[in-house]
Amino acid sequence: MKVPFVDLKAQYASIKDEVDKAIQTVIDNTAFIGGVHVSEFENKFKSVIGVKHCIAVANGTDAIYITLKMLGLQQGDEVITVANSWISTSETISQTGAKPVFVDVDEYNTINVTDIEKRITPNTKAIIPVHLYGQACDMDSLKQICDKHGLYLIEDCAQSHLSEYQGQTVGTFGNAATFSFYPGKNLGAYGDAGAVITNDDDLAESIRMYANHGALKKHHHKIEGINSRLDGLQAAVLNVKLDHLEQWTYQRNLNAQLYNKYLADVEQIETPRERSNTKHSYHLYVIKTDRRDELKQYLSDRGIQTSIHYPTPLPYLTAYNHLKEDGIEFPKALNNSETILSLPMFPELTEQEIKYVSATIAEFFNA
Ligand SMILES: Cc1ncc(COP(=O)(O)O)c(C=O)c1O
Repeated sequence: MKVPFVDLKAQYASIKDEVDKAIQTVIDNTAFIGGVHVSEFENKFKSVIGVKHCIAVANGTDAIYITLKMLGLQQGDEVITVANSWISTSETISQTGAKPVFVDVDEYNTINVTDIEKRITPNTKAIIPVHLYGQACDMDSLKQICDKHGLYLIEDCAQSHLSEYQGQTVGTFGNAATFSFYPGKNLGAYGDAGAVITNDDDLAESIRMYANHGALKKHHHKIEGINSRLDGLQAAVLNVKLDHLEQWTYQRNLNAQLYNKYLADVEQIETPRERSNTKHSYHLYVIKTDRRDELKQYLSDRGIQTSIHYPTPLPYLTAYNHLKEDGIEFPKALNNSETILSLPMFPELTEQEIKYVSATIAEFFNA
């Protein structure tokens, strides 16, 4: 049996008629950049999350960069973020001229809130927690720290569509939150796409302006900006898929429970821990084992695709050699990078496939 890591073809097959029709409508309307499909998506997404504003942009990386830039981040400032994430979270901090300051992870693979205050200096302006894999961060502590020190809180929700913390949807806790709709994400376009959400009217307006060459109205450039607009085809696909997101998130959770059940007796691995009072969205189902590389190969030889998120923690990437003078280490993130393994996870995964993956893992350790 072959089990892919994600199966976007299976998802397309389940919504083909809706998607094909939506794409044809965009072509018929020649609404390629901005326009009615983008507005429809912004309105739908902000009401699904429960915020005042949604500004669709070209991708999740731009969403972070534009937000930081419009909050006024600049050279000399510092922004705290987590040691294990995709590089977008930190490279966008550098793009504004500010310095990324990393903090180790906790047992849920999210920012370790107890380490944050040690890293705050007079230059610290913001914190970007990442709800990695779909697991919500400790938002109570993060809000408390931000309030106490007067810091902006920007949630990176690229992997956490519809995740919840104490019954509240992630993305609604801070000054703004950013989303990626990269094809493999829980809500994925058929190309690059992203968004910023916020309840702050002024911030929303400046983000919309900056993402559109500094203009809210054609030829009225109040500032210099960038070109980071969502195109109509992506918005139309997202509009179709957004109607299914809740069901898909439910399905991901069922799949995670099946993995938990079938892997329960495999003592050599650790299955994902869920923070209490949170709702996971299982963008990724990540196990830990000391024999990660061997297991990955064993599964690959038997048709099972897996992945590693991420093989090198951000502070240990060559790109951040210049920050090493801080002398700070990130032992948990470093240890995780050698033990984490992301198993196949997508809504259409069958119980049969989950059983096969789990049985193959058990077989590896019993061999
Ligand atoms: C945690 C995190 N932040 C930001 C991004 C950037 O999103 P995009 O690929 O849409 O630019 C991603 C996507 O991979 C991500 O996983």
